[in-house]
Amino acid sequence: MSVLGIETSCDETGVAVYDTRRGLLAHRLFSQIAMHAEYGGVVPELASRDHVRRLWPLIDACLADAGVQRSALTGVAYTAGPGLVGALLVGAAAGRAIAWALDIPAIGVHHMEGHLLAPLLEADPPQPPFVALLVSGGHTQLVLVRRLGDYELLGESLDDAAGEAFDKTAKMMGLAYPGGPVLAGLAEQGRSGAFTFSRPMTDRPGLDFSFSGLKTQVLLAWQHSDHSAQTQADIARGFEDAVADTLRIKCERAMASTGAGVLVVAGGVGANRRLRQALADSAARGGYRLCFPRPEFCTDNGAMIAFAGALRLAAGQRQGSEIQARPRWDMASLPAI
Ligand code: KG4
Ligand code: ZN
Repeated sequence: MSVLGIETSCDETGVAVYDTRRGLLAHRLFSQIAMHAEYGGVVPELASRDHVRRLWPLIDACLADAGVQRSALTGVAYTAGPGLVGALLVGAAAGRAIAWALDIPAIGVHHMEGHLLAPLLEADPPQPPFVALLVSGGHTQLVLVRRLGDYELLGESLDDAAGEAFDKTAKMMGLAYPGGPVLAGLAEQGRSGAFTFSRPMTDRPGLDFSFSGLKTQVLLAWQHSDHSAQTQADIARGFEDAVADTLRIKCERAMASTGAGVLVVAGGVGANRRLRQALADSAARGGYRLCFPRPEFCTDNGAMIAFAGALRLAAGQRQGSEIQARPRWDMASLPAI
């Protein structure tokens, strides 16, 4: 099958063509970051309108890159949720319309399943069962993947997601939007141990997370500091160390409690170098395999949607002619593939 993937759940327009025999043929991304930066965060209505402007030229460019005629497509996959409803509707309506016009099947993909399966786009993909750490701007979850499409939630954040904590902490310290990568860049100049923040919820059993208190600790440290560039970098480093260490501790627990031999990490925060290093050290010590997508497939992209959709379409799963957009959607409710 040759599947067109469309991602428009938030502030990135992503498009890709995945072929079930030949692999990923092309992918293109347009990021709206510059547009939202002026407002210090994503403005949903502006996001929807920009997806409308960008999507069709991006699809044409991606098909040209892939060397695939529109008429040669045999399936369409679009992000159906979770996400901003207006933004989702743009990709859903376009995807559904293309499928209708070409008389080919379409499927609405769960955005977090897209993230979760992104590591399988890399060489030597892991096979289930495995544990997945999903760390994005909206979600922080540990998931047991028994089979593809069969997901058990082991733990999740009770308040802010890890990416959200990065973004809010960065904003508090006056850093530019989007805060995650900016704060991570600043932390490179920071000294480890100059500021030590807590590792939330690691002092009790369980696999849930809480990151909102950490944000408050950073705020207090920042307010009572000399506001110098070095102090800012030191605080950024202390925050990043705390998040990476907390995620590592919970991953080790999940690996021990499930007995799984593979940990897969996905979502925007998965691009964080310190987290990748902390988990690599842990995997070496614990004797388990660690799999990441390449950094550009950690953050939102069309390739992960084309891939997840292709797996489901190839397994015969189809969606009716309705345009599906689900701002909230429980991943555990998905059918197995
Ligand atoms: O997966 P993603 O692109 O979008 C969602 O589905 O939410 O994740 C975006 C999140 C943002 O919160 C962003 O600040 C964070 O991932 N992020 C990072 C890094 N790159 C992106 N956080 C920490 N370090 C990074 N290098
Ligand atoms: Zn995402």
